[in-house]
Amino acid sequence: GMDMKDEEKLYKRNGILYPTIMSPPENLDALKDLEAREDDIMLVAYPKCGCNWMVGVLRKIMTTCGYTLPERPRLIEFHSPEVQKIEAEMPSPRFMASHLHPDDIPVSFKTNKTKILVVFRNPKDTAVSYYHFMNNNPVLPKTESWDKFFSDFMSGEVCWGSYFDHALAWEKHVDDPNVLIVTYEELKENLLEGVQKIANFFNFPLTEEQVKGIAGESTFSAMQLSSKTSLGKYTNVFLRKGEVGDWRNHFTESQSKQMDEEFKKKLSGTKLGAKLKY
Ligand code: A3P
Repeated sequence: GMDMKDEEKLYKRNGILYPTIMSPPENLDALKDLEAREDDIMLVAYPKCGCNWMVGVLRKIMTTCGYTLPERPRLIEFHSPEVQKIEAEMPSPRFMASHLHPDDIPVSFKTNKTKILVVFRNPKDTAVSYYHFMNNNPVLPKTESWDKFFSDFMSGEVCWGSYFDHALAWEKHVDDPNVLIVTYEELKENLLEGVQKIANFFNFPLTEEQVKGIAGESTFSAMQLSSKTSLGKYTNVFLRKGEVGDWRNHFTESQSKQMDEEFKKKLSGTKLGAKLKY
């Protein structure tokens, strides 16, 4: 994949860009057969909103409760048709994740009332994080410049589509009993409370001590340390800065204004918009 031409690294399907190597069309085609279960643990996040952070938290919660989890990419759209067949045979509770737009998540998640944890993040820090990820990940094409990436982000010409489309689609589900939406910002503010909330949502019984332990092992610096063995030199690709407000180091005043206007136009007055403070 490293010697692929930049223009081959992404492809479009139904108007949305996907990374060719990780998520080829045959993976997405096979998803129609995914039979979700009521007791699956499902995590959904727009790219760079804190997906790997929540994967870490959920893994720790589940292993603390005595479950063993297979080492496998968690994103369902990264599963080849063969891996999807293996997943279909796995015992419950299975742990899965996705960056897909909510309307593209297999319908069986809805019909079988699977609980879904959604993590969202303010659009400015999401864009900055995404920009660095594009430039640090060899399976993705490098961006021309921050300005070019910013305009692609605003028009939804990035992998998995428009941030605002995802946010608007999730807004329709904020009050669904099987959906819990948390934000990167609230987790940064109080991780202990976040871990407790997530454990409660999925009915994982944890003691106060255990919640404390998991939160302590899930801070940015703790995860950076513990990932060094598994991720090696790629640690910084997935754990870059881990802060709220890094956008201030990248956005021009006019970009900031443009984002504020788009945010206001699309998300003002919405429940999700009110949670995404930046
Ligand atoms: P930055 O690029 O702003 O540092 P995703 O996992 O969805 O791709 O999101 C990646 C972002 O989450 C990166 O943001 C990364 O540093 C941040 N992140 C990962 N683990 C984290 C943690 N334990 N605490 C805070 N942020 C974390």
